[in-house]
Amino acid sequence: MARIVYLNGDYLPETEARVSIFDRGFLMADAVYEVTSVLGGKLIDFDGHMARLARSLGELDMANPLTQETWLEIHRELLRRNDISDGGVYLQVTRGAPNDRDFVFPDPEKIPQTVVLFTQSKPGLIDSPSAKTGIRVISIPDIRWGRRDIKTVQLLYPSMGKMMAKAAGCDDAWLVEDGFVTEGSSNNAYIVKDGKIITRDLSRDILHGITRAAVLRFARESQMEVEERPFTIAEAQAADEAFITSATMFVTPVIEIDGTAIGTGTPGNVAPRLRAIYFEESLKTGI
Ligand code: PDD
Repeated sequence: MARIVYLNGDYLPETEARVSIFDRGFLMADAVYEVTSVLGGKLIDFDGHMARLARSLGELDMANPLTQETWLEIHRELLRRNDISDGGVYLQVTRGAPNDRDFVFPDPEKIPQTVVLFTQSKPGLIDSPSAKTGIRVISIPDIRWGRRDIKTVQLLYPSMGKMMAKAAGCDDAWLVEDGFVTEGSSNNAYIVKDGKIITRDLSRDILHGITRAAVLRFARESQMEVEERPFTIAEAQAADEAFITSATMFVTPVIEIDGTAIGTGTPGNVAPRLRAIYFEESLKTGI
């Protein structure tokens, strides 16, 4: 069965959805995106993802082309048409397709934005093998642009980071700037020391993870101590545990950084506990 995707108001088989070669998402990476996870057919942290979408668009002087209700309707319709139980919905809004390549933004009154959504089915997402074994990461310099708080589709360097990790026999890369970890290639980064959860504070240097916000809230509600500040790779290597969060990986333990085992070199206690709490709580509020 061909996947049904959404493009500019239409639901189409994926093979029939076409976007102009002049689309600014394609030519300029002039586009923002969101990924919302789906568990048991429910959208997780949907309001958070829509709030961040609105913020990303606003920061780039783009209008939000649809209302919250319409976004929800489209997400739900795609889940229904593609019979998705576990997986995610990818959403992208570009500045549209003018009739030629030009660095100058097109007039938004004349050029409509491009809106694309598609589903990704991932049965058994909750019990992914990496959650049980933990993942290995390498550190690489963070050479991305200075507005990482905007969720743009400029993902070449994160993609290269994953390839560097793969080449080193690892799973992912943590990015380092001025001696401190910013975040993972497509996730937020954490360490645990003496029971305290440490993660970089929010700024333009990192994406403000929706999973991060939920996990830190649940951690605090469970009387765990949280400290939001930068940390180094050396500090991470000397930590008791490390982990990452994202809408696709939820809470996933990190067991090795640049060849050094973290703690016992196994997933530890805090990350698996936070993962369990995250599922329990977010399934309650999934819509
Ligand atoms: N990535 N940091 C970066 C650079 C990210 O790309 C992501 C998400 C996160 C975590 O944010 P959230 O918890 O809202 O998913 C942090 C998504 C999953 C992706 O690109 O597929």
